[in-house]
Amino acid sequence: MRIHELTAEERAVYATLKPESLPQHVAIIMDGNGRWAGHRSLKRFLGHQQGAKSVQLVTETASRIGLPWLTLYAFSLENNLRRPRAEVNFLMRLLRSYLESNLQRMMDNNVRIRYIGRTHELPPEVQDKMAWAADATARNTGTTLTLALNYGGRSEMVDAFRALAAEIKQKHIAPERITEEDIHRHLYTAHMPDPDLLIRTSGEMRISNYLLWQIAYTELLVTERLWPDFRGIHLLEAIADFQRRERRYGGLGEGSGDVEEDADRIRLAAG
Ligand code: FPP
Repeated sequence: MRIHELTAEERAVYATLKPESLPQHVAIIMDGNGRWAGHRSLKRFLGHQQGAKSVQLVTETASRIGLPWLTLYAFSLENNLRRPRAEVNFLMRLLRSYLESNLQRMMDNNVRIRYIGRTHELPPEVQDKMAWAADATARNTGTTLTLALNYGGRSEMVDAFRALAAEIKQKHIAPERITEEDIHRHLYTAHMPDPDLLIRTSGEMRISNYLLWQIAYTELLVTERLWPDFRGIHLLEAIADFQRRERRYGGLGEGSGDVEEDADRIRLAAG
């Protein structure tokens, strides 16, 4: 942990956190780049450019507090299919230049870069730069920054089910022996814990096909703040909010009342 590298404002929020219950994995839906630009009468691409700055600053704060996993929704399958070509091309160029110009900072912050999604469908020059950044940072041991690129939660499940079906056929496994663990093993995220906290910026109350399987018990936090205005301190504030919640995983929480095991007495009490 490199708490001393936090800004004074960040350190003040960090001081309110319980170090023993920090989340292991934070996922973020980075939304609002276009609106940020629109509010300033700027072109949308300037919003994305500013959003890339937020990516770097938030990642660095995450690495300073020792967050093991940070997973950012950078480009969805739907973005790829439904946005104008010029915007998609811009995002691809931005990703390349982002990786190139921030690699040294990633190394300085001990950040490891990885990707999830159908990345093999991205332009070859983008894939080359992605592989370059992943290889260069592969031995870093701090935060793993996973960029979801050409990612969709349903297509991830399709890919997982295809791989599982092939395994079942090859090993002659009976379908009734399939477990949740078998599905988990074939997801893009098989090597990571599920997110503890999912943050969505810019106020929309949607999941947008993000990490559908993995967020079964994830705490959700939606902030009105637009992604280009989101900074490390807002990540820390989100973690403070997360720590005030009680996670129950389908069980009972504190203050749920005593469990009554005597069925007769329950009937009596109910009249
Ligand atoms: C949503 O804004 C954001 C995206 C479509 C992509 C996220 C991209 C970045 C943060 C920048 C590049 C990332 C990296 C890793 C270099 P929007 O355009 O949907 O905003 P709007 O809903 O306000 O129009």
